[in-house]
Amino acid sequence: MNNISEIKKHLAEHWSAFESLLSSTLDSQSDMLNRINRYLFDTSGKQIRPLLAFVSAMAGSGVINEQTVACATASELIHTASLLHDDVVDNSEQRRGNKTVSKLFSPGASILIGDFWLTRALALLLEKQCPNEVLRCYAGTLEELAEGEMMQMDFADSLTTAEKDYLNIIRRKTGSLFVASVRCAAIVSGAASEIVNALTEYAHLVGISFQIRDDIIDYYPSSQTGKDSGCDIEERKITMPLLCAMESDPSQAEFIRSQMGKIVPLAQSQEQQAQNKILIEQIKEFVYKNNGLESAKVRLGEILSQAKESLDSLSDSYYKDALLKIADSLLLS
Ligand code: IPE
Ligand code: IPE
Ligand code: MG
Ligand code: MG
Repeated sequence: MNNISEIKKHLAEHWSAFESLLSSTLDSQSDMLNRINRYLFDTSGKQIRPLLAFVSAMAGSGVINEQTVACATASELIHTASLLHDDVVDNSEQRRGNKTVSKLFSPGASILIGDFWLTRALALLLEKQCPNEVLRCYAGTLEELAEGEMMQMDFADSLTTAEKDYLNIIRRKTGSLFVASVRCAAIVSGAASEIVNALTEYAHLVGISFQIRDDIIDYYPSSQTGKDSGCDIEERKITMPLLCAMESDPSQAEFIRSQMGKIVPLAQSQEQQAQNKILIEQIKEFVYKNNGLESAKVRLGEILSQAKESLDSLSDSYYKDALLKIADSLLLS
């Protein structure tokens, strides 16, 4: 991700405007909220969504204005809020190499602070008088984020996830915020509608790729990701590596789904935890044996190629090149 820090540097004062708006937007009357906000700032993430917002605005129209900065900031606020909620839903211990707010403070604090960040995002878009189309786009994203996570819960019960269901879930829970970040930034910056549409397609495909990449590295050790590892199987999530492995050996697919159904989420007793461990290892072995990780990486590469192709109609510029490089930085070898 070396390219990413170079692109941030290139954005110079626009990036600083985002950083100061992010911190000033979150001032609160509650000491505890300010304390937890400070913790979240000290452990901030990659900020890829605001980066994509700025780079898309520049690639699409060459303009960054006050509303573009508001869209970039709202995107990071909504993203962090969704993680604060997601870590409660997933009962996660670690985020960005540190303890989650849910474990360090409480699940309730994590939910309420997530709500606070979400509300501040919408207030910011209103304050900067962003057009209705932009507000509608972000509102639609919030709906899709929640729906995507709920659909994931449904499938953790039924365990019937097919590839189309998986793609539908990740389009909602991850792709939709990438789309809002890029599309809204391009709209408020005055990009032409065919350019806005090309950038939207790029964002959709990069967003889906981003989640597929995350689902592949969920199989990597925690020390490499700063997040809990192997959680997806434990939470009975059938993601791209497992789908690819089942495609490679369909004769075992039903058996593997039924083994996953025996995993007890949030197991309390030692006996249940030991049983979970055996089942998780068995499913991981199935994925490794059937090249599930390698096949998922190939699928990731194909979708990223499509993402890059969707920028064909944009004129050449430093920022178009940056969008191509961001897509390449998501490849896994
Ligand atoms: C994590 O997103 C959640 C997913 C959509 C996979 P990021 O990887 O962008 O999280 P941070 O903000 O950089 O930690
Ligand atoms: C992405 O799903 C979370 C959101 C889009 C809110 P995951 O549950 O896979 O994300 P991580 O792995 O916890 O970051
Ligand atoms: Mg999670
Ligand atoms: Mg994950």
